[in-house]
Amino acid sequence: MFPDSLTTIRGLDHRTLRAFLSLTEQIKSTPEKFNTTLKGKTILQFFVENSTRTRMSFEAATRKLGGTSIAFAASSSSLQKGETLLDTVQVIQQYGVNAIVMRHSSGGSPDLVAKATALPVINAGDGSHEHPTQALLDCFTLAEYWKSDLTQDQPFSGKSIVIIGDTLQSRVTRSNIHLMTTLGAQVFLSGPSTLTIKNLSLFPEVRYIPFPDAILNSVDAVMALRIQFERGNKGVIPSIEEYRTFWGLTHERVSKMKPEAKILHPGPMNRGVEIDPEVADSDRSLVLNQVENGVFARMAVLGALVGGLKP
Ligand code: CP
Repeated sequence: MFPDSLTTIRGLDHRTLRAFLSLTEQIKSTPEKFNTTLKGKTILQFFVENSTRTRMSFEAATRKLGGTSIAFAASSSSLQKGETLLDTVQVIQQYGVNAIVMRHSSGGSPDLVAKATALPVINAGDGSHEHPTQALLDCFTLAEYWKSDLTQDQPFSGKSIVIIGDTLQSRVTRSNIHLMTTLGAQVFLSGPSTLTIKNLSLFPEVRYIPFPDAILNSVDAVMALRIQFERGNKGVIPSIEEYRTFWGLTHERVSKMKPEAKILHPGPMNRGVEIDPEVADSDRSLVLNQVENGVFARMAVLGALVGGLKP
């Protein structure tokens, strides 16, 4: 039922995805039952692109499951001398690792590593492609807030979510579109056309609404994304001020939402751009719940793929 590697969330069916979420729920309610799941196992934390939340939560998850981590420091490694990705991984494999958690700026690189090794590979974010464990923790956070019944085929049936911002470069969006819609939610994308996924025809399950004000009063959750200027998004908006005016989660914009609708952000946040500080820190925000749940979701993935946990 669980895949050997988690390089993409697309292609996983609702049973497998709900099983990951149910396992997350079990682990969160009784973490002490899982504290030897990875006993004797070593996880390579292979981060070749910056990270705070994903790297630290995978390390915490490994430790809470009784495993050990080897952390790879890309900036001081022989990658800087021209060693290839696959040569690097094959070298580290000789040090006795049982799985690879991998972040890389090149989309698809976790698949290359999975094909070149016999080890489980967990994608911790690859370029603008996918971020499977972020989608799992986001949907677990929503399921927890909505008290969704994960035994149902479509536990998010009747719910709708708008993702606002740089969906063009967002691996979080690509993974969440599949997970949220598979769970039964209606997903809207909103943002400047220059920052929106170009090949929307490949995602027939979503609707693009240029300006979020048109639907804010009807959705059950809003996810804000930062603009990923580091991926070359130059000249895509006239100014930060104009972006905030039309798409930023200001207090005024949030007041148009249903009172019970919540706000998510995968982080890192650019306060005052896509989300105002008073909104990020308000009781409408689930941002710190997402961070907390990141550890449990990653414990579930490591437990399933490396520790032999069953649904
Ligand atoms: N959400 C997320 O991936 O954050 P980090 O880049 O800090 O890991």
